[in-house]
Amino acid sequence: MTLLQPHFPRLIASASEMRTWSADAKREGKRIALVPTMGALHEGHLALVAEASKHADQVVASIFVNPTQFGPNEDFDAYPRTLDSDRELLARDGFCDVVFAPSVADMYPLGENLTWVTVDSMGDHLCGATRPGHFRGVTTVVSRLFAITSPDVAVFGMKDAQQFFILNRMTQEMGFGTRLVGLPTVREADGLALSSRNRYLTSAERAAAPLLNRLLNEASEMVEKVGQLDAHVLVDHVVRGLKDEPACTIDYVQLVDTETLQPLESLIRGSRVLLALAAFFGKARLIDNVIIDVA
Ligand code: PAJ
Repeated sequence: MTLLQPHFPRLIASASEMRTWSADAKREGKRIALVPTMGALHEGHLALVAEASKHADQVVASIFVNPTQFGPNEDFDAYPRTLDSDRELLARDGFCDVVFAPSVADMYPLGENLTWVTVDSMGDHLCGATRPGHFRGVTTVVSRLFAITSPDVAVFGMKDAQQFFILNRMTQEMGFGTRLVGLPTVREADGLALSSRNRYLTSAERAAAPLLNRLLNEASEMVEKVGQLDAHVLVDHVVRGLKDEPACTIDYVQLVDTETLQPLESLIRGSRVLLALAAFFGKARLIDNVIIDVA
């Protein structure tokens, strides 16, 4: 028998076992941090797990490819499922105590799902507009993960900024008592945001993709250095740059308020805004964003 490495995370594959583990940990006075993921882990996910360890005594990473957040023409079947290598990566860093990898039947115990958690209006724009039903799937599954693991803290990436703001609203309004932490996007050296979907890129598409981050930074500098407050000018700058790249097809480019996630015509001094985009590079739909504090 091979001995497990000291920090090899324990694998919990059922909701009932996860509930028992959590209740036991709480009884011992331990604080629990949860990092929800769909697996195919990369350094971005691992940074969330490392961050989680600063906020709690026990870190749970969940790995669940959630069917209800994928549209009928999206990549649910093709989404990479790499549990063994995910666990090895988590063991390498040593910050994760438990991998919670439930089955679909654990998360959707009665088959067809009838109970949904939805956050009105914040899902109307950005990714919500082009992925109908997506955020309803995310909020429903995350509320279930919270109910099963009872985390004190949950850590999410700001790469999915709309997801973070919606989940933060949901957590407060539902009274989960969980504190959300949002971690800045982890990037490749050339600025491309790490994503499980980057593996779909051809080498030509991969070479072109850092454009997303570059254009967002340029727009942010137009606010910070030149005082540009016209949302249309900022969005146009990004749209024109993306249209110049033949490998890229725009899904959306939008500028919204971070509280409401509603589109803005102009930026108000003292506010915080989100400039976000989604674009296809071949098969891969990539997203990126920048948060701008308007001085
Ligand atoms: P997934 O796409 O696996 O992402 C899991 C977490 O990793 C999210 O909080 C996401 O924002 C974060 N993340 C992804 N790439 C990142 C990067 N480059 N830098 C920092 N963080 C990054 O998001 C989901 O799964 C699902 O919607 C989920 C919340 C798990 C619900 O099913």
